[in-house]
Amino acid sequence: MRTASASLVAIVSLVLACGSASGPSPADDGAPKGQQLYKMHCELCHGANGKLGFNGAKDLTASTLSRAEMVAQVSNGKGRMMPYKNTLSIKEIEAVVDYARALGNKR
Ligand code: HEC
Repeated sequence: MRTASASLVAIVSLVLACGSASGPSPADDGAPKGQQLYKMHCELCHGANGKLGFNGAKDLTASTLSRAEMVAQVSNGKGRMMPYKNTLSIKEIEAVVDYARALGNKR
């Protein structure tokens, strides 16, 4: 009886852990968060597929920048693109850059 209720508790907390959107360390939770951040901050100019090019925005799927260069550009801004270092954490910038880079692979 003791064992049974103990494993029931284990199963319930497992289900709860999987069901929660954030999990134990939300900042390290890359992919889904990247998509969310992209929709919120980037889609306006770059479009859902990265190609919109609104207001002079570059086609992200055609970019030749490295991941580090993108992280730097998103942090500091360039031309008509604003800096994000005061809006997003470095983890969030990395997550959104990873998402943006993956757009190019999905063609
Ligand atoms: C206000 C419109 C706007 C928003 C919002 C915006 N960008 Fe940009 N983005 C631009 C413009 C304009 C450029 C071209 C800058 C230049 O080279 O002068 C650019 C360039 C870039 C580049 C460089 C591409 C290359 O090859 O040079 C990357 C990477 C990028 N944006 C990522 C992002 C990400 C990630 C976000 C969301 C966090 C974002 N942008 C939000 C307008 C925007």
